[in-house]
Amino acid sequence: MKALLIGAGCVALVATQAWAQDANQTRSLAATCFACHGNDGRSVGGIPPSLAGRDRAELLKILKDFKEGKRPATIMHQHAKGYSDQQLERIADYFAKIKPGPAAAAPAAR
Ligand code: HEC
Repeated sequence: MKALLIGAGCVALVATQAWAQDANQTRSLAATCFACHGNDGRSVGGIPPSLAGRDRAELLKILKDFKEGKRPATIMHQHAKGYSDQQLERIADYFAKIKPGPAAAAPAAR
């Protein structure tokens, strides 16, 4: 019985670690977007548009349209083509779950 409980504990621990790793990987995927769309997708002055808190399905549709060249773009075709459909789903999910808000203040000038 004791062994069984320890076993169950290990499974839970491994599952938690896997989840944390997954979340980190998703954030890394999304972090490539931060450069232009702002940290966590809260863009400065709305250009390019903020991604935080947008509808997941809408984001995914836009990203897939960029990937397939169906939506006009300057730079987004290249970005969207760099990800599998599954990765785009994770990215859309990531931004949809973030609360919209003002962009973080720019670092002070040195
Ligand atoms: C080099 C800057 C840059 C990076 C990096 C970038 N974007 Fe964009 N994004 C743009 C620009 C500029 C547009 C406007 C369309 C265009 O000209 O390509 C845009 C448009 C979009 C739009 C459409 C917004 C709307 O409401 O019309 C979405 C969604 C989007 N980007 C998501 C992403 C995601 C997700 C990533 C990361 C995988 C990303 N972008 C990375 C510059 C960037």
